Amino acid sequence: MPLADCDRVQGTPLYMGAPLVVHCHRKRICTLGRGMSSGEHSNFKTLRLVIMKILSGIQPSGQLHIGNYFGMMKTMISNMENSELYVFIVNLHALTSVHDQRRLATGTLEAAADFLALGLDPDKCIFWVQSDVPEVCELTWILSTVTPMGLMERCHSYKDKVAKGIDASHGLFSYPVLMAADILLYQADQVPVGKDQKQHLEVARDIAQKFNSTYGETFVIPEPGISETTATVPGLDGQKMSKSYDNTIPIFLEGKALKKRVMAIETDATAVEAPKDPDSCNLFSMFKLFASPERLEEVRGLYVNGGAAYGYIKLELLDLISDCFAEARLKKAEYLADPAMLRALLLRGADKARKKAVVTLDLVRERVGLNY
Ligand code: ADP
Ligand code: TRP
Repeated sequence: MPLADCDRVQGTPLYMGAPLVVHCHRKRICTLGRGMSSGEHSNFKTLRLVIMKILSGIQPSGQLHIGNYFGMMKTMISNMENSELYVFIVNLHALTSVHDQRRLATGTLEAAADFLALGLDPDKCIFWVQSDVPEVCELTWILSTVTPMGLMERCHSYKDKVAKGIDASHGLFSYPVLMAADILLYQADQVPVGKDQKQHLEVARDIAQKFNSTYGETFVIPEPGISETTATVPGLDGQKMSKSYDNTIPIFLEGKALKKRVMAIETDATAVEAPKDPDSCNLFSMFKLFASPERLEEVRGLYVNGGAAYGYIKLELLDLISDCFAEARLKKAEYLADPAMLRALLLRGADKARKKAVVTLDLVRERVGLNY
């Protein structure tokens, strides 16, 4: 059966041993049973693809920005229909840089509201807050006992963060092990992230391989899901857009504040009529994310042949950003107006996540000898 014909798959992948129900045009078309192999069902190969587990998390450490949206959130939201999707707010990771109780707590709810407002449907994925599934901490410890020091010492994100003024804590140093536990606990096949997380994904793979070779096949080796076009969204200054560089365009900014940010996008001093290279222009890179293909070609033409006025392009970009997130802005306000409902929704997600997490953790405990 072609991938597109499958509209719903219930259950966990066969390698987790549970039965799997496949729906096509809302009708149940077959059930694959425990332990069935590809030889026993001709659709098996395709189905393995259909039910790929996709997982990613985001830190509630500041206002989410368009780099987060295009680098990760949009991809995650678009995967709702064709995968078993895991989305979570990584507040334990954020503890490595946020030491303000109120900021972390409100940031967590805000980040959750952002995701939902942008279109994440909690009934079509598992959506929760990391600290509500404490099993991840136990797995982090177990994984840390097979993680080579050299692997950790090579991680550039620790050094970068310390250089930016974040306290050099042990938690910050071992951040990638917690991230590996996040991924391996749910046996994720693919992890959509921006390019800056590539090394962390490699660490997760290395740790999984080390564990598997020490204790026997246990973890799925996750693949990074990095999109060519949005691997690194530039910030106002042309560096990677990041909360920690104060160069962002927050997704939910509006009115004058949004205008101020967009007008502050750094451009060179080339005259309007002079030809310019669109591909080395920061403004064009952002414009590309929002403009229709036809309009993009027109503006590319203005760059190449002369006539591209940065001021006008910025104003057009401002409208595009404003329109793109107009509906989401309203929805976000609705979610934040009812924090009790938001919390309940997240706790339901945590229940679902936990049921998956204990299956892996039980296996890991068995493998290492903690089940005595
Ligand atoms: P920040 O650098 O702003 O703190 P995070 O580390 O919280 O962002 O990133 C959350 C997700 O968004 C990650 O998957 C990350 O790779 C992605 N991301 C962050 N900034 C960008 C960017 N400028 N371009 C593409 N993806 C990004
Ligand atoms: N380290 C990621 C970031 O800063 C956030 C993160 C934590 C994550 N755990 C994860 C991303 C698991 C993907 C999968 O953006």
